[in-house]
Amino acid sequence: MRHVISVHDFSVEEIVEVLDRAEGMVAIARGEATSDLLRGKVLACIFFEPSTRTRLSFETAMNRLGGGVIGFAGTEATSVVKGETLADTIRMVSGYADAVVLRHPHEGAARLATEFSSVPILNAGDGAGQHPTQTLLDLFTIRRETGRMEGLNISLVGDLRYGRTVHSLAIALAKLGNKINLVSPQGLEMPNEVVGYLEDAGLFGTACHLPDEVIAETDILYVTRIQKERFPDPVEYEKVAGIYRVDPGLVAKGPGSMIIMHPLPRVKEIAPEVDALPQARYFIQAFNGVPVRMALLSMLVGGD
Ligand code: NCD
Repeated sequence: MRHVISVHDFSVEEIVEVLDRAEGMVAIARGEATSDLLRGKVLACIFFEPSTRTRLSFETAMNRLGGGVIGFAGTEATSVVKGETLADTIRMVSGYADAVVLRHPHEGAARLATEFSSVPILNAGDGAGQHPTQTLLDLFTIRRETGRMEGLNISLVGDLRYGRTVHSLAIALAKLGNKINLVSPQGLEMPNEVVGYLEDAGLFGTACHLPDEVIAETDILYVTRIQKERFPDPVEYEKVAGIYRVDPGLVAKGPGSMIIMHPLPRVKEIAPEVDALPQARYFIQAFNGVPVRMALLSMLVGGD
């Protein structure tokens, strides 16, 4: 049995295998072709934290492959409010389904869940930890939109401290041989563990506080939301809220071939006028969650 908990669990070859398989899923994801690959299989999506894209794209992926979905979005209507532990919830749900997609506010929750599960666990975000399936869809987007996934100059912008998407993505991008610039407000810098990984790989570019400093040499501008819900003190959030706004003026300072990505949801960090620019790829990126999650499910649940 194989779980998907961290990008550290994937070799470059395995990443490429998932992405290649996802290419073959695009027509099914769009509804232009049909598939019964996972008929009779059940996916449990248990989300202890809010989600739109991750949960719905996993559900669409399973449905489009002919499987079924159970689960909950928010714990209000579950036995969690009665005091049930994560361990017991996982023991039980893994008896109802062939794989479990888990999102949880605590870092390490997905790894813990593997100890109690009889089926594969897919980490759909564990607090400020990791978000490996988001990284796979980000890489799929990068490969499709730029034609490559190595030798790129990638600037990660925003809340690098609490943002789980950028923790996973930075590591995967370094594994693949890309140079990473880190752009964050004071106090929201990338954790040392990730910075150390980039340094060891010789792929740590520039660390700075403003995107203007790196935009001219950026192939991919990856923007993230300030993770309001992770701040211990709301006053600290207010100090950095709205600190960045990617607008057409900033985009014009980058290379014409630069693309802009964002895991979404966006709040104010990308101006709506950017949506119409050819550089904007974040909605395509959100769609790509479907074929990539289809690929993962077919590998984990489909038995091949
Ligand atoms: C992200 C998350 O939940 O970490 N959303 C997502 O899954 N696409 C990013 C965020 O919430 O800012």
